[in-house]
Amino acid sequence: MIEVSNVQKAFNGNPVLKGISCTFETGKCNLVLGGSGTGKSVLLQCIVGLMKPDLGSITFDGTMYTNNKINIRQEIRRKIGMLFQGSALFDSMTVAQNVEFPLQMLTPEMTPAERRDRVEFCLKRVGLENAGNKMPSEISGGMKKRVGIARAIAPNCTYLFCDEPNSGLDPATSIKIDELIHEITHEYNITTVIITHDMNSVIEIGEHIIFLHQGRKLWDGTKEEILNAQVPELQEFIFSSSLVRAAKKVDEEAEGGLASIHDHEGGGI
Ligand SMILES: Nc1ncnc2c1ncn2[C@@H]1O[C@H](COP(=O)(O)OP(=O)(O)OP(=O)(O)O)[C@@H](O)[C@H]1O
Ligand SMILES: [Mg+2]
Repeated sequence: MIEVSNVQKAFNGNPVLKGISCTFETGKCNLVLGGSGTGKSVLLQCIVGLMKPDLGSITFDGTMYTNNKINIRQEIRRKIGMLFQGSALFDSMTVAQNVEFPLQMLTPEMTPAERRDRVEFCLKRVGLENAGNKMPSEISGGMKKRVGIARAIAPNCTYLFCDEPNSGLDPATSIKIDELIHEITHEYNITTVIITHDMNSVIEIGEHIIFLHQGRKLWDGTKEEILNAQVPELQEFIFSSSLVRAAKKVDEEAEGGLASIHDHEGGGI
């Protein structure tokens, strides 16, 4: 479990994170949901240590990460896998070399043969066993995301962070990527944190969701609870999607239908 406590961050006096506290649960897909510019990526960068919070603390499974000794921070850092917004593959390396890269950096004790096996295993796990020799320019956006996931999990990560994993993908590919992240999370009992503003992802894989608005956490809960959350900013956010409006309408009609059937049955007897 990752615990974030009162994290604050400002740039040139402009507060972006205004005291965020939340937990991300082990073995679950934890979603950070919110509109553009609300501080999702800044929060993620603070959590993984790419950015230093001005105030607040982050613990990983009970071990303090913020301001701890360098060797303890490095040990936690080795357990973190990252899927960056836009995949961020190295253009000059093949797919297999991209996946091998963190192994060379983080696990120098592995032999080249062990690294090759691990790369092969991870590429197979994301359904790209035949793409190892391709260059990133030769593969589609969805395949790039898969390579990004394979690269993130290659060093056996305990914590997986994904910044907008399905941005720029068509809806069908987005769902496949969501499902892949969900499967991997459960298969390896990873604490996964996914940044998104995609309501489809919420409905598909949102086991634990926090909603950010203007640098504050306004709500947290599950995908089952979100449609009935009584937070105006969250309602405005989720019902700006016509798909979600339609889903809620169908849901209410089904409930209304059931309720009227029950009423009718009750009255008849
Ligand atoms: N390094 C930085 N220096 C100055 N301001 C920054 C920096 N990084 C982010 N910001 C500002 O912090 C705010 C939040 O940015 P952030 O990237 O976290 O938004 P976001 O919620 O991830 O948005 P999106 O959904 O568009 O990715 C923005 O106003 C942004 O301009
Ligand atoms: Mg962002």
